Amino acid sequence: MALPFADFDVEAYAQDTSDHVTSYQSDRGAIVKTLVNAQPLEETPFIAPFVACPNATAKQAMQFADIHPGDVIMDLGCGNGQLMRAAVQHLLDIKCKMTPENSFVQSKVIGIELDPYLADHVRQLISSETDLQVWLALNGKLGLESKEDDSVVLDRCIQVRILEQDIFTVDLELWKPTVLVLYLLPEGLRRLQPQLMQWLITSDGRRLVTIDYAVPDWQPQSTEPLNSGTGTKHLYLYTRSDLHINR
Ligand SMILES: C[S@@+](CC[C@H](N)C(=O)[O-])C[C@H]1O[C@@H](n2cnc3c(N)ncnc32)[C@H](O)[C@@H]1O
Repeated sequence: MALPFADFDVEAYAQDTSDHVTSYQSDRGAIVKTLVNAQPLEETPFIAPFVACPNATAKQAMQFADIHPGDVIMDLGCGNGQLMRAAVQHLLDIKCKMTPENSFVQSKVIGIELDPYLADHVRQLISSETDLQVWLALNGKLGLESKEDDSVVLDRCIQVRILEQDIFTVDLELWKPTVLVLYLLPEGLRRLQPQLMQWLITSDGRRLVTIDYAVPDWQPQSTEPLNSGTGTKHLYLYTRSDLHINR
């Protein structure tokens, strides 16, 4: 397990794991060990703590992003994989599409996570059949069809992959996501602006959805209040055609 910062004292960390276990449970009940929540963010390369995206919000974000077969959905800072799982579930719900040539349109769900404990957790989720119960149950026929590198192909149509990597080093043109769904803090979104802008303006049809926080100074194409919230929290959608910068 690679540690993201060289001088981090992993032995001391391991001796007192209770400090490094998130104090809440995700919707799936799992309590996950984290590195990111172990010390103040400013002393780390992380731009957001680990807070699992509520299931209802993750589902709503997929609807809002108008996910369809063939999309490559990427979560920069995927935590314990809640948004990835919602993306897979959404894709399974809307079914695979056959092309006229009888081949399947493949969708991809890719998570980027720098915290090695969280990355490992998601890696286990997507490769262990028991933890994948929900994903696979929806799939009917236990869809682990082939496995290459870290990726798992579900139902011929959905490939799931986790990359243990710093968001700022991800080559978006290599993975070519069509949808980015981000649950990060405003300062982190601000720091990501050059990367996000370059990605968004390169091609029509790309959609950026942020949860709870808008990208600072950017005018969203549309917003939607979170169904599960008090009306103060929103989803924000950005596309190339409607991108306006307020300065
Ligand atoms: C609010 S959580 C996101 C939760 C997640 N998207 C979900 O589906 O529930 C933010 C995540 O971003 C990760 N993160 C923060 N800075 C990062 C960085 N520079 N590179 C990669 N991951 C990062 C954190 O470790 C944390 O898991």
